[in-house]
Amino acid sequence: MPACYKSVTMTLTVRKLHPLFGAEIGGVDLTRPVAAGTFEEIRSAFEEHSVLLLRGQAIDDSQQIAFSQLFGPLETTVSANPAGGTAFARQSNLDINTGDMIPVDDRRMVYQRANFFWHTDSSFKRVPALCSLLSARICPPEGGDTEFATLRGAYATLPETMKQKIEPLIAEHSLAYSRGLVDPNVLTEAQKAEVPPVKQRLVRTNPVNGRKALYVSAHASHIVGWPFAEGRALLDELTAHATEPEFCFAHRWRNGDLIIWDNRAVLHRATPYDTVKYKRLMQRTTVAGDAPTVAQ
Ligand code: SIN
Repeated sequence: MPACYKSVTMTLTVRKLHPLFGAEIGGVDLTRPVAAGTFEEIRSAFEEHSVLLLRGQAIDDSQQIAFSQLFGPLETTVSANPAGGTAFARQSNLDINTGDMIPVDDRRMVYQRANFFWHTDSSFKRVPALCSLLSARICPPEGGDTEFATLRGAYATLPETMKQKIEPLIAEHSLAYSRGLVDPNVLTEAQKAEVPPVKQRLVRTNPVNGRKALYVSAHASHIVGWPFAEGRALLDELTAHATEPEFCFAHRWRNGDLIIWDNRAVLHRATPYDTVKYKRLMQRTTVAGDAPTVAQ
């Protein structure tokens, strides 16, 4: 580290992105170490707004890892991911070694197609992720937006009878289920065995502010103890409610944007772009949660 490379406490600015959630945070430079006081402000903005946008962050992989680790230990990506076994979930149509564009029918592109479904990251793990940080390194000039939906806003507007009905419910989540929606052969049997199905609560409570959120995701297949079709219908109904336009916004990426989202409180999904014409490289780090949502 050069001698002049000091951490400085910055005064942050906050601009709301949507009436219910999301904020753009200004006054942070992630190419330099972030002072503890500055991080505390970021962390409390994260608990409050669920999605934080930081523009103009021309960070490299090691700077992204250093900043992400301030939130907690990082997950390692499953072996099926195009950057499997690393701290990164690579969202890209560029070959990791050559930088060449990957053909549309290549397994790596098919694998990423499941990101077009509304989901929260790693709900297929026993301990689901706290948050994800997506850094825009190369953005296509059109398409490739990421959309977000507030699961707190969705929960708050449910009828009281529905809140009571879903409070005790547990859903089963698995990567094989969500990836299978695109192509049942995209995961090998060994990759499926690496992440067996897990159970997750359908309603989660934020430990800092007590706000409740629905916990639905494309990884959720059914409700434990219910007939499959009945549970499926409930999950579809709740997901349709959570992704009504009033609960959503789309982010148009610029190179250097970094978005941090709270996987306990929002759904997100990728949107298509012309993968033959344009390059896209987004690097995602994922911070592990600290406990299962339910005993397994
Ligand atoms: C993701 O689903 O984690 C990535 C979203 C994106 O590539 O826009």
